[in-house]
Amino acid sequence: MADSFYAPGRNHLFVPGPVNIPEPVMRAMNRNNEDHRSPAFPKLSKSVIDDVKRIFKSSKGTSFIFPTTGTGAWESALTNTLSPGDKIISFRLGQFSLLWIDQMQRLKFDVDVVDCDWGAGVDLDVLKGKLASDRSHNVKAICVVHNETSTGVTNDIGGIRRVLDDLKHPALLLVDGVSSIGAIDFRMDDWKVDVALTGSQKALSLPTGLGIVCAGPKALEAAKTSRSLKVFFDWADYLKFYAAGTFWPYTPSIQLMYGLRAALDLIFEEGLDNVIARHHRLGSATRAAVQAWGLKIATQREEWISDTVTAVLVPPHVDSANVVKLAWKKYNLSLGVGLNKVAGKVFRIGHLGSMNELQLLGALAGVELVLQEVGVNIKLGSGVAAAQAHLSKATPLIASRI
Ligand SMILES: Cc1ncc(COP(=O)(O)O)c(C=O)c1O
Repeated sequence: MADSFYAPGRNHLFVPGPVNIPEPVMRAMNRNNEDHRSPAFPKLSKSVIDDVKRIFKSSKGTSFIFPTTGTGAWESALTNTLSPGDKIISFRLGQFSLLWIDQMQRLKFDVDVVDCDWGAGVDLDVLKGKLASDRSHNVKAICVVHNETSTGVTNDIGGIRRVLDDLKHPALLLVDGVSSIGAIDFRMDDWKVDVALTGSQKALSLPTGLGIVCAGPKALEAAKTSRSLKVFFDWADYLKFYAAGTFWPYTPSIQLMYGLRAALDLIFEEGLDNVIARHHRLGSATRAAVQAWGLKIATQREEWISDTVTAVLVPPHVDSANVVKLAWKKYNLSLGVGLNKVAGKVFRIGHLGSMNELQLLGALAGVELVLQEVGVNIKLGSGVAAAQAHLSKATPLIASRI
């Protein structure tokens, strides 16, 4: 049956995940099932389990690839390292930090929630104050969302590490990098992050379905004594199969493993730092467009700007949901809606994963049309021109075509 939502041309997918899947990755996944216990499959398994750590910038960590989503990866990070009743400090500054905190509470951890404005990032002084007064080291973990996808806020993980180190506080540092790892600078080893996690449908530009967790040595040690109930997400099961060289306690998604191999190859071919620079370029161009429209972004301070998602505040007489709806209905452009507290107030432009300059300019042109049509007073072409001016200066030649 034909897809009744079909529209000619390409869908302009500008939500901050799931993102566009590159052609070579789609081709790599277009294959039959095979026996994951065959003598051949462990070679692929080992290569992705080892190489995925490079997007975390970790050589000391151990990676676990679960058939799950980011939400499952959260659960894996928590239940393997902590025990019920353990005290966690966490910052609620948007929809994803809210949901992670909700999961922590449902798993019976004792969460000291720091509520922040939606649009603000982690206040390091608040963290410092809390940890300084915790002389008996009751706090077992700091759990932070690196890039809050609902508001376009990137937190300073290196700064959090410095606070912990300055106070010689032994709490574990658990970081959600679902919309940052592989796109925004993330340094697991340098920042001594104990557990970091991501999902396949974001920077890796794969289908949804893999929750990827990287655990540092201190987290693996903590896992030996953690008393949380866990079965599906138990790292110990994986470690047994790693030692045996067979890798999977249960059936992996064959196609996603081939896709992951291809996705990693593309990232390494471009160069991870070039990928990060590309995201910065696209993020800067988007912010230049928003400024030219005379609008503001939800991110409250320059130091928290996000290079993977821009949450644009609409004027009070406009419902941002109508911007998203009209973009999809008229221009086949998919933008992110405002979630929860910022519903109706922001729409989000995702510039994440497999994306280039001209794709972004197309989307910005579409946003301009829609903004004007819903009654926002902007000059057509102004944002596109500002973004072009930035991109023209900042875009290098494509590395493989020099
Ligand atoms: C920062 C962040 N964390 C966690 C999640 C949840 O991931 P999933 O929807 O894959 O479970 C998302 C989803 O968008 C996210 O953006």
